[in-house]
Amino acid sequence: MKRLGIIGGTGFLDFEGLEIRARREDETRWGMPSGPVLEGVLEGVRVAFLHRHGTPSRIPPHRINYRANISTLAAAGCDRIVAVAAVGGIRADLVPGSLVVPDQIVDYTWGRKHTFFEDDLEAPRHVDFTAPYDCALGSALLRSATDAGIAVTAGGAYACTQGPRFESAAEVDRLERDGCDIVGMTGMPEAALAREAGIAYAHLAIVVNAAAGPIRAEDMAGILAASTGKVRQIIRGVVASQP
Ligand code: HPA
Repeated sequence: MKRLGIIGGTGFLDFEGLEIRARREDETRWGMPSGPVLEGVLEGVRVAFLHRHGTPSRIPPHRINYRANISTLAAAGCDRIVAVAAVGGIRADLVPGSLVVPDQIVDYTWGRKHTFFEDDLEAPRHVDFTAPYDCALGSALLRSATDAGIAVTAGGAYACTQGPRFESAAEVDRLERDGCDIVGMTGMPEAALAREAGIAYAHLAIVVNAAAGPIRAEDMAGILAASTGKVRQIIRGVVASQP
Protein backbone atom coordinates (compact mmCIF):
# COMPACT_ATOMS: atom_id res chain seq x y z
CA MET A 1 0.00 0.00 0.00
CA LYS A 2 1.31 3.43 -0.96
CA ARG A 3 1.91 6.34 1.35
CA LEU A 4 3.04 9.96 1.32
CA GLY A 5 6.58 10.58 2.57
CA ILE A 6 7.50 13.77 4.40
CA ILE A 7 11.14 14.82 4.71
CA GLY A 8 11.67 17.38 7.44
CA GLY A 9 14.56 19.83 7.45
CA THR A 10 16.09 22.20 9.98
CA GLY A 11 13.59 23.07 12.70
CA PHE A 12 11.19 20.36 11.58
CA LEU A 13 12.28 17.46 13.76
CA ASP A 14 9.00 15.61 13.85
CA PHE A 15 5.45 16.01 12.66
CA GLU A 16 3.20 17.10 15.51
CA GLY A 17 -0.08 15.23 15.31
CA LEU A 18 1.35 12.24 13.46
CA GLU A 19 0.07 9.06 15.15
CA ILE A 20 3.22 6.94 15.03
CA ARG A 21 2.60 3.21 14.44
CA ALA A 22 6.16 2.06 13.67
CA ARG A 23 9.68 3.40 13.87
CA ARG A 24 12.07 1.74 11.42
CA GLU A 25 15.78 2.31 11.00
CA ASP A 26 16.96 -0.35 8.55
CA GLU A 27 20.25 -0.30 6.70
CA THR A 28 19.72 0.10 2.95
CA ARG A 29 21.88 -1.04 0.07
CA TRP A 30 23.29 2.52 0.20
CA GLY A 31 23.99 2.58 3.93
CA MET A 32 22.11 4.01 6.90
CA PRO A 33 19.49 6.74 6.47
CA SER A 34 19.67 9.92 8.55
CA GLY A 35 17.46 8.43 11.24
CA PRO A 36 14.34 6.39 11.83
CA VAL A 37 11.43 6.49 9.43
CA LEU A 38 8.31 7.21 11.47
CA GLU A 39 5.42 5.37 9.88
CA GLY A 40 2.07 6.60 11.02
CA VAL A 41 -1.31 8.06 10.31
CA LEU A 42 -2.19 11.68 9.61
CA GLU A 43 -5.74 12.76 8.79
CA GLY A 44 -6.57 9.03 8.73
CA VAL A 45 -4.03 8.47 5.93
CA ARG A 46 -0.78 6.46 6.04
CA VAL A 47 2.34 8.65 5.89
CA ALA A 48 6.03 8.26 6.67
CA PHE A 49 8.24 10.96 8.17
CA LEU A 50 12.02 11.20 8.02
CA HIS A 51 14.20 13.98 9.39
CA ARG A 52 16.94 14.75 6.89
CA HIS A 53 19.54 15.89 9.42
CA GLY A 54 18.94 13.04 11.88
CA THR A 55 17.37 13.08 15.32
CA PRO A 56 18.87 14.87 17.17
CA SER A 57 19.91 17.10 14.25
CA ARG A 58 23.55 16.36 13.59
CA ILE A 59 24.23 15.66 9.90
CA PRO A 60 25.37 18.63 7.79
CA PRO A 61 23.99 18.97 4.23
CA HIS A 62 27.10 17.61 2.49
CA ARG A 63 27.21 14.50 4.73
CA ILE A 64 23.57 13.43 4.40
CA ASN A 65 23.16 9.98 2.86
CA TYR A 66 20.53 11.11 0.36
CA ARG A 67 20.50 7.75 -1.39
CA ALA A 68 19.75 5.87 1.83
CA ASN A 69 17.05 8.40 2.74
CA ILE A 70 15.21 8.11 -0.57
CA SER A 71 15.61 4.37 -0.73
CA THR A 72 14.32 3.86 2.82
CA LEU A 73 11.24 5.96 2.02
CA ALA A 74 10.73 3.92 -1.16
CA ALA A 75 10.97 0.75 0.96
CA ALA A 76 8.33 2.23 3.30
CA GLY A 77 6.00 2.37 0.29
CA CYS A 78 6.25 6.10 -0.44
CA ASP A 79 5.17 6.99 -3.97
CA ARG A 80 5.16 10.74 -3.19
CA ILE A 81 7.45 12.90 -1.08
CA VAL A 82 6.90 16.41 0.23
CA ALA A 83 10.29 17.82 1.23
CA VAL A 84 10.41 20.73 3.67
CA ALA A 85 13.56 22.86 3.89
CA ALA A 86 14.76 26.25 5.08
CA VAL A 87 16.15 28.52 2.35
CA GLY A 88 17.56 31.96 1.81
CA GLY A 89 15.53 34.37 -0.30
CA ILE A 90 17.29 35.83 -3.36
CA ARG A 91 14.34 37.52 -5.08
CA ALA A 92 13.46 40.76 -3.32
CA ASP A 93 9.85 39.80 -2.58
CA LEU A 94 10.83 36.51 -0.95
CA VAL A 95 11.41 37.96 2.48
CA PRO A 96 11.91 35.90 5.66
CA GLY A 97 8.70 34.08 6.53
CA SER A 98 7.70 33.55 2.88
CA LEU A 99 6.76 30.04 1.78
CA VAL A 100 7.65 28.88 -1.74
CA VAL A 101 6.84 25.85 -3.89
CA PRO A 102 9.66 26.08 -6.47
CA ASP A 103 9.38 24.62 -9.96
CA GLN A 104 13.02 24.61 -11.06
CA ILE A 105 16.45 23.67 -9.69
CA VAL A 106 20.02 24.74 -10.39
CA ASP A 107 22.52 22.38 -8.77
CA TYR A 108 25.82 23.86 -7.52
CA THR A 109 26.73 20.94 -5.25
CA TRP A 110 29.75 18.72 -5.79
CA GLY A 111 31.12 15.45 -4.50
CA ARG A 112 27.78 14.15 -3.23
CA LYS A 113 26.61 10.61 -4.02
CA HIS A 114 24.03 11.82 -6.48
CA THR A 115 22.74 8.81 -8.41
CA PHE A 116 21.45 5.28 -7.94
CA PHE A 117 22.94 4.40 -11.34
CA GLU A 118 26.69 4.23 -10.98
CA ASP A 119 29.57 1.90 -11.82
CA ASP A 120 28.37 -1.47 -12.96
CA LEU A 121 25.50 -1.75 -10.50
CA GLU A 122 22.78 -1.01 -13.03
CA ALA A 123 22.52 -0.15 -16.68
CA PRO A 124 22.92 3.66 -16.76
CA ARG A 125 19.63 5.47 -16.91
CA HIS A 126 19.24 9.09 -17.86
CA VAL A 127 16.06 10.30 -16.22
CA ASP A 128 14.14 13.26 -17.60
CA PHE A 129 14.67 16.18 -15.20
CA THR A 130 13.27 18.98 -17.38
CA ALA A 131 10.61 19.61 -14.76
CA PRO A 132 12.47 18.53 -11.61
CA TYR A 133 9.48 18.70 -9.29
CA ASP A 134 6.22 16.81 -9.62
CA CYS A 135 3.61 19.22 -10.97
CA ALA A 136 0.57 17.47 -9.50
CA LEU A 137 2.08 17.30 -6.00
CA GLY A 138 3.25 20.92 -6.21
CA SER A 139 -0.27 21.96 -7.26
CA ALA A 140 -1.72 20.00 -4.35
CA LEU A 141 0.53 21.96 -1.96
CA LEU A 142 -0.56 25.26 -3.49
CA ARG A 143 -4.25 24.30 -3.44
CA SER A 144 -4.01 23.24 0.18
CA ALA A 145 -2.34 26.53 1.10
CA THR A 146 -5.04 28.52 -0.72
CA ASP A 147 -7.79 26.55 1.03
CA ALA A 148 -6.14 27.29 4.39
CA GLY A 149 -5.68 30.98 3.57
CA ILE A 150 -1.89 30.68 3.76
CA ALA A 151 0.14 32.72 1.27
CA VAL A 152 2.59 30.63 -0.76
CA THR A 153 4.61 31.73 -3.79
CA ALA A 154 4.03 29.44 -6.76
CA GLY A 155 7.14 28.62 -8.76
CA GLY A 156 10.68 29.86 -8.69
CA ALA A 157 14.14 28.44 -9.19
CA TYR A 158 15.86 26.79 -6.24
CA ALA A 159 19.65 26.97 -6.15
CA CYS A 160 21.32 24.16 -4.23
CA THR A 161 24.73 25.10 -2.86
CA GLN A 162 27.24 22.86 -1.18
CA GLY A 163 27.38 24.46 2.28
CA PRO A 164 27.73 24.18 5.12
CA ARG A 165 28.78 27.83 4.96
CA PHE A 166 26.43 30.44 3.55
CA GLU A 167 27.21 32.22 0.29
CA SER A 168 29.37 35.29 -0.24
CA ALA A 169 27.66 38.45 -1.56
CA ALA A 170 29.24 37.87 -4.99
CA GLU A 171 28.00 34.29 -5.03
CA VAL A 172 24.46 35.45 -4.26
CA ASP A 173 24.79 37.99 -7.13
CA ARG A 174 25.81 35.16 -9.42
CA LEU A 175 22.87 32.99 -8.31
CA GLU A 176 20.58 35.91 -9.09
CA ARG A 177 22.13 36.36 -12.54
CA ASP A 178 21.63 32.64 -13.08
CA GLY A 179 17.90 33.17 -12.51
CA CYS A 180 17.67 31.62 -9.05
CA ASP A 181 15.02 32.85 -6.61
CA ILE A 182 15.86 30.93 -3.42
CA VAL A 183 18.93 29.08 -2.16
CA GLY A 184 19.34 26.06 0.09
CA MET A 185 21.81 23.26 0.69
CA THR A 186 19.77 20.05 0.75
CA GLY A 187 17.45 19.96 -2.27
CA MET A 188 20.03 18.12 -4.37
CA PRO A 189 20.63 15.31 -4.99
CA GLU A 190 17.45 14.57 -3.03
CA ALA A 191 15.09 15.65 -5.83
CA ALA A 192 17.06 13.85 -8.56
CA LEU A 193 17.27 10.63 -6.56
CA ALA A 194 13.50 10.71 -6.00
CA ARG A 195 13.07 11.04 -9.78
CA GLU A 196 15.44 8.12 -10.37
CA ALA A 197 13.44 6.08 -7.87
CA GLY A 198 10.18 6.96 -9.65
CA ILE A 199 8.83 8.88 -6.63
CA ALA A 200 6.86 12.11 -7.17
CA TYR A 201 8.70 14.84 -5.27
CA ALA A 202 7.72 18.41 -4.39
CA HIS A 203 9.40 21.00 -2.24
CA LEU A 204 7.91 23.35 0.33
CA ALA A 205 10.58 25.93 1.13
CA ILE A 206 10.56 28.27 4.12
CA VAL A 207 12.51 31.50 3.56
CA VAL A 208 14.41 32.11 6.81
CA ASN A 209 16.85 34.84 5.75
CA ALA A 210 17.76 37.16 2.93
CA ALA A 211 20.47 35.24 1.05
CA ALA A 212 22.67 38.33 0.85
CA GLY A 213 22.70 38.40 4.67
CA PRO A 214 23.49 39.34 7.35
CA ILE A 215 22.44 35.93 8.67
CA ARG A 216 21.77 35.35 12.37
CA ALA A 217 20.96 31.87 13.66
CA GLU A 218 18.50 33.17 16.25
CA ASP A 219 16.51 35.08 13.60
CA MET A 220 16.34 31.97 11.44
CA ALA A 221 15.17 29.85 14.37
CA GLY A 222 12.43 32.39 15.15
CA ILE A 223 11.15 32.35 11.56
CA LEU A 224 11.18 28.56 11.49
CA ALA A 225 9.29 28.33 14.76
CA ALA A 226 6.68 30.75 13.42
CA SER A 227 6.32 28.84 10.12
CA THR A 228 6.11 25.19 11.10
CA GLY A 229 2.43 25.40 12.03
CA LYS A 230 1.58 26.72 8.55
CA VAL A 231 3.73 24.08 6.89
CA ARG A 232 2.02 21.33 8.89
CA GLN A 233 -1.39 22.69 7.97
CA ILE A 234 -0.53 22.76 4.26
CA ILE A 235 0.77 19.19 4.35
CA ARG A 236 -2.28 17.99 6.30
CA GLY A 237 -4.45 19.44 3.54
CA VAL A 238 -2.47 17.56 0.89
CA VAL A 239 -2.76 14.32 2.83
CA ALA A 240 -6.51 14.78 3.25
CA SER A 241 -7.01 15.54 -0.45
CA GLN A 242 -4.72 12.82 -1.84
CA PRO A 243 -5.18 9.76 0.39
N1 HPA B 1 21.92 29.84 1.75
C1 HPA B 1 21.97 28.50 1.66
N2 HPA B 1 21.21 27.70 2.40
C2 HPA B 1 20.34 28.27 3.26
C3 HPA B 1 20.25 29.66 3.40
C4 HPA B 1 21.08 30.48 2.60
O1 HPA B 1 21.06 31.73 2.68
N3 HPA B 1 19.30 29.89 4.35
C5 HPA B 1 18.84 28.67 4.76
N4 HPA B 1 19.48 27.69 4.10
